[in-house]
Amino acid sequence: MRIFLAGATGAVGQRLVPALLEDGHEVVAMTRTAAKADGLRAVGALPVVADALDREAVMGAVLGAEPEVIIHQMTALTGATDMKHFDRVFATTNRLRTEGTRHLLDAARAAGTRRLIAQSFTGWPFAREGGPVKDEKAPLDSDPPRAQRETLAAIRELEALVGDADGVEGVVLRYGGFYGPGTSLGADGEVTELVRRRRLPVVGSGDGRWSFTHIDDAAGGVLATLAPGGPTGVFAIVDDEPARTADWLPALASALGAPAPRRVPAWLGRLAAGDAAVTMMTASRGASNERARSVLGWTPRWPTWREGFREGL
Ligand SMILES: NC(=O)c1ccc[n+]([C@@H]2O[C@H](COP(=O)([O-])OP(=O)(O)OC[C@H]3O[C@@H](n4cnc5c(N)ncnc54)[C@H](OP(=O)(O)O)[C@@H]3O)[C@@H](O)[C@H]2O)c1
Repeated sequence: MRIFLAGATGAVGQRLVPALLEDGHEVVAMTRTAAKADGLRAVGALPVVADALDREAVMGAVLGAEPEVIIHQMTALTGATDMKHFDRVFATTNRLRTEGTRHLLDAARAAGTRRLIAQSFTGWPFAREGGPVKDEKAPLDSDPPRAQRETLAAIRELEALVGDADGVEGVVLRYGGFYGPGTSLGADGEVTELVRRRRLPVVGSGDGRWSFTHIDDAAGGVLATLAPGGPTGVFAIVDDEPARTADWLPALASALGAPAPRRVPAWLGRLAAGDAAVTMMTASRGASNERARSVLGWTPRWPTWREGFREGL
């Protein structure tokens, strides 16, 4: 198949391009910079230079490619560790999730593309009520911390745009926290570095649940949903073990050979890192991968972060 990949040079894209080529697909790989085009060409993709926020450029790129499937793996989160100003840090990502998705969907309709697969996120967006682990039908937070309102609205908008897409089969892949090579939780990632330097404490109860996704499993989720005519809708592509912050953070420190993380009270966490960070550490919910397993037959290559943190960074 001919596949149009927006975000080909990113953390997921870099794992996805070789996997798609190996499966015999033709990959038209979008990047903003001509400098990255040579690298994409060298691995066997067909680069096209366009900015996702430039509607005409996206229309031209997609119409030139006439792909059967479009994949949206664009974010702008490198260095995103300032949780106090969450929406500010996510501002460009939010535009990629709203405007960027609209441009790709319009282009898909114009080019006769059958299917569009887009990246979303799961965990803290859930309503902070009921049990610790949620499925795709569970409501999202109607009253998120102030600093996360725009980001949650952008996630909702992306999921609504793709889920209700007229004339295009829409697939939303909700990933958990990424880890593995090329991510902020890779061997030399910025979050890993904070843990090594004991700068990421467990806040308050540490009861907030996180779901994790190894970057190879993020790519695997795309491969499992690629076929036109296949299942559509929202799928949580996460591992089998949503975990309390009080459990996964010390395990990560141990896997890195770092000292155990500090513990700080919620009020101090709020002062230093803001409401959103405290909520994520104390109250966020994890996600179940049951739908992806039963409907897609997808299984994670890294079923638990326990092993992944030790061997998969
Ligand atoms: N997903 C989350 O919610 C989340 C949250 C916090 C942290 N993180 C961490 O953030 C890291 C991801 O970094 P990242 O966000 O910089 O993503 P990335 O996956 O490293 O790369 C972003 C991709 O999006 C493309 N892109 C960005 N803006 C674009 C635009 N305007 N037009 C076209 N393409 C565009 C880039 O293409 P070109 O540069 O080639 O143009 C690139 O391929 C991961 O390590 C993850 O662990 C993720």
